[in-house]
Formats: sequence, structure tokens, C-alpha cells
Amino acid sequence: MASFAFEEEQIKTKVHFGVWGKIIGYALRRWYLLAILAITMLLTSFHDASFVPLLNKAAIEAIRLSQGLPFDAVVIDVQFIFGIRFTVDFWGYGLTLLIGILLRSLCIFITFFATNYLEMSIYVDIRQDGFRRVQELSFSYFDKTSAGWLIARLQSDTSKIADMISWGIIRVVWLVFDLVLTLITMFTVSWQMALILLAASPLIMIIAPYFEMVLLKLSRIARNAFSGYVAWLAESIAGAKTIKTLAIETTVQAEADEIVTDIRNKNFKRTKFQALFHPSVVFVMSLTTAIVIFFGSMFMKTDTTITVATFALYIGFVRAIFNPLQEFAELFGDIVQTQSSVEKIVSLIDTKPQIVDRPDVIAKYGTLFHERKENYEPIKGDIEFKNVNFSYLKDIEIIHDMNLKIKAGQSIAIVGETGSGKSTTVNLLCRFYEPTSGQLLIDGVDYRERSVSWLRSNIGYVQQSPFIFSGTIRKNIAYGKLDATDEEIIHAAKLVDVHDFIMSLPNGYNTELQDGGSELSVGQKQLISFARAIVRDPVIMILDEATSSIDTETEVVIQKAIKDVLKGRTSIIIAHRLSTIVDSDRILVMSNGKIIEDGTHRELITAQGTYHHLYMNQFAELKVEEQIETYETQIAGIVD
Ligand SMILES: Nc1ncnc2c1ncn2[C@@H]1O[C@H](COP(=O)(O)OP(=O)(O)O)[C@@H](O)[C@H]1O
Ligand SMILES: [Mg+2]
Repeated sequence: MASFAFEEEQIKTKVHFGVWGKIIGYALRRWYLLAILAITMLLTSFHDASFVPLLNKAAIEAIRLSQGLPFDAVVIDVQFIFGIRFTVDFWGYGLTLLIGILLRSLCIFITFFATNYLEMSIYVDIRQDGFRRVQELSFSYFDKTSAGWLIARLQSDTSKIADMISWGIIRVVWLVFDLVLTLITMFTVSWQMALILLAASPLIMIIAPYFEMVLLKLSRIARNAFSGYVAWLAESIAGAKTIKTLAIETTVQAEADEIVTDIRNKNFKRTKFQALFHPSVVFVMSLTTAIVIFFGSMFMKTDTTITVATFALYIGFVRAIFNPLQEFAELFGDIVQTQSSVEKIVSLIDTKPQIVDRPDVIAKYGTLFHERKENYEPIKGDIEFKNVNFSYLKDIEIIHDMNLKIKAGQSIAIVGETGSGKSTTVNLLCRFYEPTSGQLLIDGVDYRERSVSWLRSNIGYVQQSPFIFSGTIRKNIAYGKLDATDEEIIHAAKLVDVHDFIMSLPNGYNTELQDGGSELSVGQKQLISFARAIVRDPVIMILDEATSSIDTETEVVIQKAIKDVLKGRTSIIIAHRLSTIVDSDRILVMSNGKIIEDGTHRELITAQGTYHHLYMNQFAELKVEEQIETYETQIAGIVD
């Protein structure tokens, strides 16, 4: 069983903050929101860091000076920053505070609204870019990437990043404004006191980030231990029967004890540290306050301008300086936690599709999303493989020096054992992959001279396992040609002999299909995907083992359909059951990435080579199948 040595190495891996540039770019697209936010946050910080503290300081001083005077006679002398100075009475003071708080509330409202808007916009933009990239990427990308991975990127990672970046920007800007305005206010009131406070604060500057970093690391260790446990648990429960057959329950139980203890210890370590965080912070803050009071009072003796109110103000400043620093440490933790999501999303968005058109080809034929169909040449359907070599992976060649000419309108069948390169050959023809060397010519022109869309719009390709989209049958067929009329759709369905079946459904062509068409048989799905391929009236038609998992009766129907449908088209059929292809114009036999036989059924049978051998084997098999079928019918008759 897998060990549970959760790699602590992983925790130390270097983080590349460069990827954030791309994400910040998404925020900068909404520069006007950022501008609004800068203003509202500046006003809010100004209110909190300067306006209220200075008004309060003035009020406290005024109260001290005006003891015994009537209420109305109190004069509050406010010394503002940047040399601004004004006097108000008590009513004026109250009114000023009221207006201030109202403005602040308005700013907060706008800030939250704009930030949420920013978050949504970033979310939508990243997701759209990611999804667009998924559309552009070539087959090879999906060989390596699971659907689950992509969905996780486009869903949870994207929302995590949008949340992080929008609120992160707000927090940074806010915190910088707060700090700067606090410093300005501090130095305006008394630069000496400001210096004393700054001299006392390095402890704070060290303690908060230190705790945050260590906590982050401990949390990661604990989390990794836990996810390792979940994987271990799943494996041991899935393998419960095997564990019993091996009689290793004691060993497994001991392993479980060990893992659980490990998790507990790691969590304990984190919790201990977390519990230490708050008291330490309060301790350091009080210590700083004490230092400010101690040196401040010494200083007060020599400087009479330092009043009690000033003193109170500076004690408040200890917190005003501390909060942003703590916030910043927290923010840093959040950034590190979002790092892996950002790296993954950026890697997706930055992935270059392997199959791309050359710039001059794009100029003429347009892009995938903006086709210039007016420049598309009509296609005849001549195909030529010229010295084509191909490897999926470096150094492992799958197709070796293939030379093959197919005339327009010919029907070709490819047979050969599993893994011989049949699908690869048609994948190359569809330009899902490009030859590693050599050329593929369509109507005598290298297909890289024309766009991918030009080629694909002329090919009808039916895969072994047809994919049914959720939606109506009509829509499913129309995916083959988005602007297909009802007549065209019905014509296609009739050609492949599925029209009667569709009409037998209560809602006919408007029948809603769900969940990959689970309410249809494989054969029916097959026929619908045939209709989808045929509705675009492709010049080249490719069927890759399209009938291999279908029962014999349905196959007869499909065979009949295929024959009608393929008339006048260049067609390539990869067949498992040789009975499907006996009357093709040419049969190619592949083995190990090479065409080893090429001829008509009659020619190949006469040659007595591989094809003859394959055919005879299947023929024998067919006999057995037929025998079983007859036998089953007889049994059924008896039981009835
Ligand atoms: N996406 C892929 N990446 C790497 N190797 C592949 C890929 N697809 C197929 N192969 C390999 O290429 C060879 C030919 O496969 P394929 O053309 O699918 O054979 P066939 O269709 O004749 O059964 C096999 O050895 C297979 O393992
Ligand atoms: Mg195949």
C-alpha cells in the first residue's frame, strides 16, 4: 500500500510570482473601476487616519481648556494636516463629524459595490479566455488533460482567483493609504512623537509576518497530511476484500494508527502556534504602547506642546500602524495559497495550440472564430499522403513513411490489428495532428496552405462512441451544419434511415435528449451522429470503427445507410467487422504503422496474405456467433 510520507519538500517548492502579472492584467482591463476605487478608498482612509483622530484630539484639548465655560462658548481649534486649520463650536463639530461619517459610508458602499463588480468581471473574463483556449487547443492537449482537471480550473480556481485579486487589490491599496495617511498625520502633529513610535514598532513589523508565514507552512503540512489520509482511506476501503484475502488487517490497522497520530501531531503543532499568535501580538502591541508612553512622557517634560490629547492620539496610532501590517501579512498568506490556482490557470491560458495556421493562411481564410468562408476553395476530395512520418511522443514513431493516393470519390477501407495506426492515419488526415515529416495533400495542395477550418468543414467524421449533446434531436443533427434547414435535417436523417425512428417518438425531432443520450440505444445514437456528419454534405467522409459496438441487425441498417450516403464522396472506413467493407473500392491493411496490403477484396483474398487470414478468422467467428444466435432462438422458443 502506498506510503503516507507526505512530501514536505512540496511545501518548500519555489513560488513564481511572475504569473500574477497576467492576472493583474485582467484587473487593469477595468481601469475605470480601479480609479473609482482609488478615490473612495483614499477618502475612507483619510477619514479614518486623519480626519477623525485630529478632530477628536482638538475636541479633547478644547474640553480641557474650557472647563467651567458654558457649552455654547467652547471653541474647538482643529489643526489639520497640510497646514489647514479651522475653528468650530460644539454644534459645528458634531455636524462635521456627521457629514464625515455620511461621506465615509457612501464611499464604503461604492467600494464594496465596485469591488464585487470587479470580481465578477475578472471571473467572467478569465473563464471566457480559458474556455476559448479550450476550444482552440488541439487533440494532443486532450490526450494529456482530463476533463476533471479543466473543469476544476474553469470553475473553482477561477472564482478563487477573481476573489483573491479583486479584494487583494483593495486590501493593498487601502492598507497603503491607511499607513501613509497615518504617517502624515503623525508627523504633522509631532514629528518627535512620530519618531519615538516608529523606533518602537520594528517588533510589530517582524512579529506579524513571522507568525503568518509559519502558520501558513504549518497549515499546509496539516492539510497535506489530511489529504494524504483521505487517499489512503479510499484505497484501503476499496481494497477491503483484498486486505481480508491477504489477512493483513493488523498491519493495515497499525498503519492507520500511525497515520492518524501523524495528522493529530501536525494539527496540534499548528493549533499551538495559532493560539500563541494572538497573545503574542497583543503583548507586542502593549509593549510598543508602553515604550511610546515611557519615552513620550520623558519628552513631554521638555516640550510643552505635547498635550494629553496628543498622547492619547499616539496610543491610538500604535494600533493604526499595527493593523495594516497585520493585514499585509494575512494578505501575503492568501496570495501564497492562491498561487497554485494562478499557476494552473495561467498555464492553461498560455498553452499554445499545437495545430495553428500560418499568418498568411489566417490572413486569407480567417481564424477559427472568424472564418472568411468567401475565400474557401471548393474541394474535390483527392487525398495524398507523401512520405508521412508521425510520432505522438518524441522518438516513438507510429506512422512510418506512408505513401498513399486516394482519388476523389473512392471508397477506402482500412483494416489491421489494434494499435496498427488506423485511427492515427485518419487523425492526420483530419489535421487533428500534423505529420512529423512529410506532406498531406488535399486536391494536390499541402493542407497547411489552407486553414484548419476549411479542411474540417469539408470532412464528416463519425467516431466509434458518438457524443450526444443535451438538447433536441434536431439540434443534435444541426451541430453538423449550424444553419441547416428543417428539410436538410430531415433529408440527412432519411439518408441514414433514422427518420422513421425519430418520427415514432412522441415529440419527433423536438425530443429532448439528456445525459449523453442515455435514453437511446448505441445504434440510434450512432445513426444520429451519422446524420450529423452527413447534414454538412461533406466531400470526405470518415468512419472510425463506427459500427464495431453495434448488434448485427442494426449493422445491416447502418450498412445500407452507409452505401447510399457514401456515393460520390471520398470515404475512409475503418472497420472491425470485415463484412462491412467487402465492396469498398480499395482495402488497405495496416500493420505497425505501415500499409502492408492494398487492393480490392477479391485481389487481397486471391493474394492469400494478411487480409485473407483476417477474413477467414472472422468468417469462422461469425459462424460461431450465428450458431449461438440460432441456439438462443431455439431455447427462447422452448421457454415460451
Ligand atoms: N494520443 C496518443 N498519444 C500517444 N500514443 C498514442 C496516442 N494515440 C495512439 N497512440 C499509439 O499509437 C499507436 C497507434 O494507435 P491507433 O492509431 O489508435 O491504432 P488503431 O486505431 O489502429 O487501433 C498505438 O501504439 C497507440 O498506443
Ligand atoms: Mg482506432
